[in-house]
Amino acid sequence: MKVAFITGITGQDGSYLAEYLIRKGYIVHGLIRRTSYMIRTRIDHFINWPHSKNMFLHYGDMTDPVSIQNILGKVRPDEIYNLAAQSHVKISYETPVYTAETTGLGLLYLLETVRSLGLKSKIYQASTSELFSGDKSEAPQNEATRFHPKNPYGVSKLYSAEIARIYKESYGMFIVNGILFNHESPRRGENFVTRKITLDIKKVIDGKKDYIYLGNLDAQRDWGYAPEYVEAMWMMLQQEEPIDLVISTGETHSVRDFLQEACDLAGLDPEAIVKIHELYKRPNEVDYLCGDSTKAKTILGWAPKVKFRELVKIMINFELGRSPDPYEQIWDQNQQENS
Ligand code: NAP
Ligand code: GDD
Repeated sequence: MKVAFITGITGQDGSYLAEYLIRKGYIVHGLIRRTSYMIRTRIDHFINWPHSKNMFLHYGDMTDPVSIQNILGKVRPDEIYNLAAQSHVKISYETPVYTAETTGLGLLYLLETVRSLGLKSKIYQASTSELFSGDKSEAPQNEATRFHPKNPYGVSKLYSAEIARIYKESYGMFIVNGILFNHESPRRGENFVTRKITLDIKKVIDGKKDYIYLGNLDAQRDWGYAPEYVEAMWMMLQQEEPIDLVISTGETHSVRDFLQEACDLAGLDPEAIVKIHELYKRPNEVDYLCGDSTKAKTILGWAPKVKFRELVKIMINFELGRSPDPYEQIWDQNQQENS
C-alpha cells in the first residue's frame, strides 16, 4: 500500500484528494491545525468510512518546522502533496508575512526535512496561475509564460515554485509544480468569488440577505472543477520524471459572466441584487487568466470534462439543494475510461 502525506487536507483540494487516494487504496496521513473550534466539515463525511481506517491526522503547522520533521520522520511517505497555504489573494495583503511563511517558506521546511531524512518521497507542490501577470497579451498562459506575480500571495507561491525547482535540480529530488488555474466546487472556501455568489444567492432566495456585495466584476478567470484537478495532481506524481504542468480548462469568463449564469439558473436578476463595494476590490488586480494545458493532455492524457456552464450548474444546484456534488460519478467514469 502506498503512503501519502497531504498538507492542507481540510481544504477544498485536500479533502477531494484524500477521498481520491483512499479509494485508490492509499494510506493517507494529513496535517491539521489546532483550532479552538474543531471544524473539519470537508472531511467529516468520510472520516468514518470503513476504508478510512487507513487515514491518520497529525497536528502541526506549516510555520512550525519541528512539527513537519516529527511527522515526516514517523510517516516516511511515498508521496507528499503540499496543498497547505494561506490561499486568499485579498487577505494576503492584510497578512503578508504570515502568507510568506505559510505559503512560501512552508515548502522549504518540507523539502529540507525530506532531504535530511534521506526520504525518496515524490513531492507535489500546489503552484498557481497567480504566478502569471494576467496581462491579456500573454494569454493563453502555459509552462513557458513568464512569471510576474501581482500580490503577496503570488510572490509567496513564486518562492515555493522556485525553491522546488532548485531542490529538484540541486539534489535530484522528484518535485513537480502543478500550475493550476482556478478550480471550484461546492467545497470551495466561502469567501472566494464563485462560492460567495452561489451562497449569497441562496441567502437572497431565503430572505436572509437583500444584496450581494462584490468587487471587480471585470476580472476574467479560467474556472475548472476541483475533483478533476486533484486527479491531475496524482497523475503528475505517477510519471517517471518530474515535469511542471499547467492544468486549466482553456476557457475564460468574467466574474460578471459567473454572476449572470448563476442568477439565470436561480431565476434572479443580478441588477436587482448586486452592489459593488470597495472592500472587495484589490490594490492590484490579475485581469485575465486563460490557461493552455496542451502539455498536460500530451503527457498525462488529462483533459477537463467540466467547463464553465456545467460548473456553475453544479455549484448552484448544490447550494439550492437540487442535486448533490457529482464528484463520485466523475471519478467512477474516469476509472472506467482508464481501465
Ligand atoms: P484552501 O481551501 O484555502 O485550503 C488551504 C488548506 O491549507 C487548509 O486545509 C488550511 O487549513 C491549510 N493551511 C493554511 N495555513 C496553514 C498552516 N499555517 N499550517 C497548516 N495548514 C495550513 O485551498 P484550496 O483551494 O484547497 O487550494 C489548495 C492549494 O492549492 C493551496 O496551496 C492553494 O494556494 C493552491 N491553489 C489553489 C487553486 C484554486 O483555485 N483552488 C488554484 C491554484 C493553486 P485550515 O482548514 O485549518 O484552514
Ligand atoms: N474573493 C472575492 N470576493 N473576489 C471577488 C469579489 C469578492 O467579493 N468580487 C470580485 N472578485 C474578483 C477578484 O478581484 C478576482 O479577480 C476574482 O473575483 C477571483 O477572486 P477569488 O475567487 O478570490 O480567486 P483568485 O483568482 O483571486 O484566487 C484563487 O485562484 C488562484 C488561482 O488563480 C485562489 O484559489 C488562489 O489560491 C489560487 O492560486
